[in-house]
Amino acid sequence: MANSKSTPPQDTEDTKTQFEFWKKFKRFNPLEPSLAILGFFLVSLLFISCFSYLDYHTVISGIRSRGFALLGLHGSSSLPSSTGNVRPGFLDEGCVACDVFDGNWVWDESYPLYESQNCSFMDGGFRCSENGRPDSIFTKWRWQPKDCSLPRFDAGKMLEKLRNRRLVFVGDSIGRNQWESLLCMLSSAIPNKTSIYEVNGNPITKHSGFLVFKFEDFNCTVEYYRAPFLVFQGRPPAGAPAKVKYALKVDQLEGTYTKWRDADVLIFNAGHWWSYAKTLREGCYFQEGEEVKMNMTVETAYRRSIETVIDWIGSEVNMSKTYVVFRTYAPVHFSGGDWNTGGGCHLETLPGLTSLPDSCTSVCKTIFDIVSERSNESHVRKLDLLNVTNMSRWRKDGHASIYYLGPETGPASVKHQDCSHWCLPGVPDAWNELLYALFLKRESILTGNSTKSS
Ligand SMILES: *[C@@H]1O[C@H](CO)[C@@H](O)[C@H](O)[C@H]1NC(C)=O
Ligand SMILES: *[C@@H]1O[C@H](CO)[C@@H](O)[C@H](O)[C@H]1NC(C)=O
Ligand SMILES: *[C@@H]1O[C@H](CO)[C@@H](O)[C@H](O)[C@H]1NC(C)=O
Ligand SMILES: *[C@@H]1O[C@H](CO)[C@@H](O)[C@H](O)[C@H]1NC(C)=O
Ligand SMILES: *[C@@H]1O[C@H](CO)[C@@H](O)[C@H](O)[C@H]1NC(C)=O
Ligand SMILES: *[C@@H]1O[C@H](CO)[C@@H](O)[C@H](O)[C@H]1NC(C)=O
Ligand SMILES: *[C@@H]1O[C@H](CO)[C@@H](O)[C@H](O)[C@H]1NC(C)=O
Ligand SMILES: *[C@@H]1O[C@H](CO)[C@@H](O)[C@H](O)[C@H]1NC(C)=O
Ligand SMILES: *[C@@H]1O[C@H](CO)[C@@H](O)[C@H](O)[C@H]1NC(C)=O
Repeated sequence: MANSKSTPPQDTEDTKTQFEFWKKFKRFNPLEPSLAILGFFLVSLLFISCFSYLDYHTVISGIRSRGFALLGLHGSSSLPSSTGNVRPGFLDEGCVACDVFDGNWVWDESYPLYESQNCSFMDGGFRCSENGRPDSIFTKWRWQPKDCSLPRFDAGKMLEKLRNRRLVFVGDSIGRNQWESLLCMLSSAIPNKTSIYEVNGNPITKHSGFLVFKFEDFNCTVEYYRAPFLVFQGRPPAGAPAKVKYALKVDQLEGTYTKWRDADVLIFNAGHWWSYAKTLREGCYFQEGEEVKMNMTVETAYRRSIETVIDWIGSEVNMSKTYVVFRTYAPVHFSGGDWNTGGGCHLETLPGLTSLPDSCTSVCKTIFDIVSERSNESHVRKLDLLNVTNMSRWRKDGHASIYYLGPETGPASVKHQDCSHWCLPGVPDAWNELLYALFLKRESILTGNSTKSS
């Protein structure tokens, strides 16, 4: 219910984007469409649209020539007549082995799912359009898995599934980015916005602890706990060398865990803080037991920490109740430098035009490695990876870049760009659509019946 836009069911939509496009224009046509007029109209339209979408066309053929199929408005293979078969719906009973993370970004005129002006549950730093970003094409790409189709996001359905339950994000500010995206996606179905509120009355703007938003009509909460390392950070033990200013206890979970252990859906993420610059260089060393391990590398410490989280899930989380999801590393897109050396992305307006950034680094790989090494443990098999790494690597156009300051301040200097966080609406919405699909799939398996996608 309650999607403000009337779009057809998802499983055939990807094959129809072009037809819909025509249909929409037909609706605007004031003339009674005799065949000839309609024909003329369509031909002119084709001409006009080819002209105005020349850019995409170039981009798309550029990408195709590298062996990738990024289907846009001009993706001829998106016509049903040329493919013949429609992808099965991911939620269909028979659809068990579809890798929803392997696919393409497709142009979809019906996107975005919400507008930032209509959503008060969002930090200023993600409101790119309001902060002066002139282009909006980046809001119009939908993720299309190669072998199946995703259900269209239905906020009302998600909220109904979350009734009397808690959904919790634990992680760094990219996790917060995704959390705010979900708040906006869900709140779009609620006409009375005052029935959605932070339970402690805290504002959503930069806040270092945790925030709990309640959807009163559904008695459900959607929460965020800031825990950039996932493990405990504190003062070093007595007797540690003087250069040790902080210690990250790689064998002990973040302090707030009792607050979120019993959540119904638990979404972890980490990675962006596990760098030399944000740890050792700042005097933050790694501790195991009572001892600060002066020689432990960032990579080793991160590995130990993820092991700790996985062990903790095994011993403390009731996996029959709690759906545990680990969102994988979200790529950054700094070019011509790094985040602190003038790297940027602010002229990017289209996905995947230039070559992809470096492949998965060691920190990016860690979660994949550990989950696959430990896949013989039942609690590890029960958790899901929200494997956003590859799909997001295409989206260098999706970052806040210089548009993270409020409209009064205006765009930031090109020397200080944000190519880590994502504009909203934008890429994290697609992660949440995948989360939605995985969540519904799990629910239907648990209740013993799969839905026929309608
Ligand atoms: C993550 O997704 C990519 C793209 O589909 C795939 O190549 C990779 O194997 C996936 N990794 C895991 C652990 O599922
Ligand atoms: C945003 O709000 C305006 C005014 O209420 C409404 O017309 C518009 O459809 C909304 N946009 C979306 C994407 O919901
Ligand atoms: C509201 O949800 C919480 C769990 O988040 C639950 O403990 C409580 O019983 C629910 N209240 C009602 C009235 O159902
Ligand atoms: C909206 O929700 C608030 C908070 O629950 C409530 O006080 C108010 O009466 C509601 N307004 C309408 C029009 O339902
Ligand atoms: C740390 O490394 C240095 C040089 O590689 C070595 O001399 C020292 O013994 C190591 N310390 C520990 C505690 O392993
Ligand atoms: C785990 O959760 C299930 C489903 O909510 C419940 O039936 C079971 O009693 C719980 N187990 C423990 C040990 O709390
Ligand atoms: C996903 O990324 C990994 C690491 O860069 C790469 O090896 C793999 O081929 C990618 N998978 C797809 C489907 O693009
Ligand atoms: C999983 O496999 C590893 C070796 O690959 C083994 O050490 C461990 O005991 C196994 N765990 C379980 C629960 O079978
Ligand atoms: C699952 O089955 C139950 C009863 O067998 C039914 O009430 C419910 O609507 C079904 N759920 C779905 C999602 O089909």
